[in-house]
Amino acid sequence: MSENLDPADWADLRAQGHRMLDDMLDYIEHVRARPVWQPIPDDIRLSLREPLPAAPADLSSVYETFKHSILPYATGNTHPGFMGWVHGGGNPAGVLAEMLAAGLNANLGGRDHMPIELERQVARWMAELFGFPETASGLFVTGTSMANLLGVLIARTHALGPASRGTGVAEGEQRLVAYTSAAAHGCIRQAMEISGLGNAALRMIPTNERHQIDPTALRLAIAIDRHEGRMPFLLVGNAGTVDIGAIDDLVCLADIARCEGMWFHVDGAFGALAMLAPDLAPRLAGIEQADSIALDFHKWGQVPYDAGFLLVYDGGKHRETFAAPAAYLRRETRGLAAGSPWPCDFGPDLSRGFRALKTWFTLKVHGTERIGAMISETCAIARHLEACIKARPELELMAPVELNIVCFRYHCPDADRVNAKIVADLHEGGRVAPSTTILDKGLAIRAAIVNHRTERRDVEALVDLVLARGAAEAAYAAVA
Ligand SMILES: Cc1ncc(COP(=O)(O)O)c(C=O)c1O
Repeated sequence: MSENLDPADWADLRAQGHRMLDDMLDYIEHVRARPVWQPIPDDIRLSLREPLPAAPADLSSVYETFKHSILPYATGNTHPGFMGWVHGGGNPAGVLAEMLAAGLNANLGGRDHMPIELERQVARWMAELFGFPETASGLFVTGTSMANLLGVLIARTHALGPASRGTGVAEGEQRLVAYTSAAAHGCIRQAMEISGLGNAALRMIPTNERHQIDPTALRLAIAIDRHEGRMPFLLVGNAGTVDIGAIDDLVCLADIARCEGMWFHVDGAFGALAMLAPDLAPRLAGIEQADSIALDFHKWGQVPYDAGFLLVYDGGKHRETFAAPAAYLRRETRGLAAGSPWPCDFGPDLSRGFRALKTWFTLKVHGTERIGAMISETCAIARHLEACIKARPELELMAPVELNIVCFRYHCPDADRVNAKIVADLHEGGRVAPSTTILDKGLAIRAAIVNHRTERRDVEALVDLVLARGAAEAAYAAVA
């Protein structure tokens, strides 16, 4: 018997494959009829725990396990009722592209092939979108957490010089410090830790009531650090904060970064793609002056997970941070080993999948005008939710609605506990799934309208359910 892993009967595999594809398209088409999420029963959770499978199994039986034990218990972010955290809904064209990518099984670390040309094309599109030059570089990564880390590493190498790749940060005379707002995502802090600079070297600058960084406090912090002999090297601006979607004054930050000789990185995890929406793009003014931008196609771009991206204004600086010669990665001017520089010269990953294909398909199939209109529509739905909340005295808006995120709560005694319970009840109810966050006033129910399938009726259902659950809690508290 051959140990080749291809099927003995291709016709059989083909029929099974067509069934799987049809089932998955059915699932997406009818996802609204399902619960957003449901708790995983103990027996299902335990059913996957088995010894390493030594013997083969039929594809059809493995698929049955998937259908029965995995598919019904997914996160639910394809569902229109999903409003938690910042999750995109994916899109069918992206799903099909992901299948094609798996078929090609391309490794985009390097070498001379069209999949890499496609990644370069997406980078050119992003350079066009953000007004970056042709010499800009772009790289797909898992997500913005990773893109932000790479941004910090490039800024560090820029500040200390390429020789610091040999000496390491401990050898340096300079004590580097970075700045971002108190509303920044926790991955910036982590990036400082991973980069060896330490989170104590990150200044979390206070924000105004709209969660935008306070430039006066920022300038003061920089002045104090300089006075005390530290070296400001990096400013991270926010284009859409995770809690409420706030956008910093990026023109002002670009100016401060330039005057202070700091690298200007923008965390645009979801907000950067607001650039595609004509009504929102002006609010990102200044982003074109960034040295680097982190963004996710898998959020507002609706590309299936994962598809994070880093765009760097000066591709040379980007490469200077990561490129490393190795005999076994020798470049040629002809043959498969041509085409240098390779994506592996721009980041730590050598083996890399074909994330560019599902992104390219999504952008080509829907077009950026339609994607921009969809992004605007999610913000309009958020404003509708805001209006519904303001119309009900039992509900309290907890933060301004800047983009597509609405933070509110049921107004009652012991509000933190009650609202956390309401959210858990909603998750288990299966109609809508918001998340929570902690703001100055306490715990908030947080609805982030990222999914292109979410409609006004979904946020109205959220309001109705919060009111019903809140009233039930109040009635229970009255008799208890
Ligand atoms: C502003 C911001 N930055 C960074 C991240 C992290 O992105 P990812 O989950 O793709 O790593 C998020 C995630 O929601 C975010 O909202």
